[in-house]
Amino acid sequence: MGKVLQIIGITVGVLAVLGLIAGGITWAVLANRSPEPPELRPLDWWEHCVLYQIYPRSFKDSDGDGIGDLQGIISELEHFPDAGIDAIWMSPIFESPMIDFGYDISNFYKIHHEYGTIEDFRELLEKAHSLGLKVLLDFVPNHASTFSEYFEESEAGNPEYADYFVWADGYPDPDNDTNRLPPSNWVSQFGGSAWEWSNQRQQFYLHQFAVEQADFNFRHQPVRDEMINIMRFWLDEGADGFRVDALPYMYEAHPDDHEGRYPDDPLSGMSQFESHQLGYTIPLYTKDLIELYDVVYEWRDFTDEYQKEHGGDTRVLFSEGYANISMTMLYYGNEAGATGAHFPFNFDFITDVSAESNARDFVYVILKWLTYMPFGAVPNWVFGNHDNNRMPTRFRETMVDGINALNMLLPGVAVTYQGEEIGMKDGYVSWEDTVDVEACNRGDEDTYHLYSRDPARTPYHWNNSTSAGFSTSEDTWLPVAEDYMELNLAKQKEDARSHYKVYQALSSLRKHTTLSHGEYDIRAFTDNSFYLVRSLRTYDTLVLVFNVAAEASDTIDLSRVPHLQLPATVYVASIHSSRDSGTIIANNIVTLGPGEALVLRGPPI
Ligand code: GLC
Ligand code: MG
Ligand code: CA
Repeated sequence: MGKVLQIIGITVGVLAVLGLIAGGITWAVLANRSPEPPELRPLDWWEHCVLYQIYPRSFKDSDGDGIGDLQGIISELEHFPDAGIDAIWMSPIFESPMIDFGYDISNFYKIHHEYGTIEDFRELLEKAHSLGLKVLLDFVPNHASTFSEYFEESEAGNPEYADYFVWADGYPDPDNDTNRLPPSNWVSQFGGSAWEWSNQRQQFYLHQFAVEQADFNFRHQPVRDEMINIMRFWLDEGADGFRVDALPYMYEAHPDDHEGRYPDDPLSGMSQFESHQLGYTIPLYTKDLIELYDVVYEWRDFTDEYQKEHGGDTRVLFSEGYANISMTMLYYGNEAGATGAHFPFNFDFITDVSAESNARDFVYVILKWLTYMPFGAVPNWVFGNHDNNRMPTRFRETMVDGINALNMLLPGVAVTYQGEEIGMKDGYVSWEDTVDVEACNRGDEDTYHLYSRDPARTPYHWNNSTSAGFSTSEDTWLPVAEDYMELNLAKQKEDARSHYKVYQALSSLRKHTTLSHGEYDIRAFTDNSFYLVRSLRTYDTLVLVFNVAAEASDTIDLSRVPHLQLPATVYVASIHSSRDSGTIIANNIVTLGPGEALVLRGPPI
């Protein structure tokens, strides 16, 4: 602060002299001028929202069958405004044989019977909207269940559907007359060949995921038209947009471009993998194909048009895909001017950062997204979802509040996976209880835990009653995690300090203009600690300082944080911190315990 005052002092001095020279006029004007608040760009509803992922099967069961459902979600909708959440997206709720728990859809226009009916969905939408919540559905364009009418008709050779999927003859097996060999060496995401033989059609069909998830043929115009029909149907019902599933796998190389053959993916050369295992090949011909982006851009044109025609708020598309940074950024749009998803989910905190990462890794990964993102685009931050180990498990329990603070203080959209607001960890799921198709296909009793997504999908902990208040039944589709007696929402609402209370404080701080409109700067103090500062002329400066170390305390010098003027106030602190909300920080030198995070509020710049 000393330095800043000094500079102002000098400036004022110089100006005063100049002013005197100019006859005293300049001086008078300058002395009375307080800084003007900046002009603020109005934000669209989604640009700075808190977006919450519901995994419907595990959120709340209303009818005691041990499976979450729409009436369950309806009964707990108040949780979202209470937590400061603006929008929810639900993993698929459509009719499904549940091989991949809803990502294998057999009827894209129907609600799955275990979850409810279209009337339940309408009730959910109406109540959510009356609470000011937006509701997004999961749109799964890459594949349909082999139990869908599309597939059944296609397999039967009905001309209307014959080309809906990727069918190929394969090759005669020189060693076995009755056998045919698959068209290429492509490996499914869940292990095994990506080609499955159909006895009925006497051809192979492609499935990048489970055998029961057949890949649509996006080179066939009727498929593309049908995708628009599906989206239109749910927008007509009142959905506010879609999370769009598994986009990198939408297209695969076509024989026409490869001398009439489906080309083999190159081998990774990694000797730990056998030919049926994911990792054996490099997905050159099966992932991130450039054609897919045009389809995404078409969908964006469609949702924009839809809004123009029907009015109402922006219908959004948030795209899902794990890809390198340049292929990820193309989902936003391209330099030729096409616009795509409102944003692609940013999974860098899942793929590139872990409990082992240091403060510099955190800073680097944040700057990576912000550096590659196209000008004017909206960033977003994801720390967990139903496909990956939960955030407090991948990181550390002590880091929950710091990570939630980071999520909430960064510019753009904060994404929360169900349970992160209370710091839910992975549940233990034995091999006997394991139901995830990925774990069952890729693993065995000894290795399933390396692949299983079940631990991140165990039921939500509402309270300490039967099945954590998720269900009245003790027999739930996945076991409830053992720690629910100590770790549940009801308890955290009562405790003086809890992850949930920190989360609430953070989500309400998000309404602050500095966070919606301010500049950011982020830098490591040391290997252990970093700061994120948000500032905006005439508005309070907000700063997160976070020690990500497992064991080491770390002494930082706050004078290194631009725009922070002391004394500042602790707005909220991680629950293990010795400092509480309201503590005054008057000294630049501060020691942070391991995992400690502080959100500081200082005067405007
Ligand atoms: C996405 C989903 C995942 C699913 C896969 C196939 O990655 O998030 O759960 O298994 O797509 O639909
Ligand atoms: Mg139920
Ligand atoms: Ca595909």
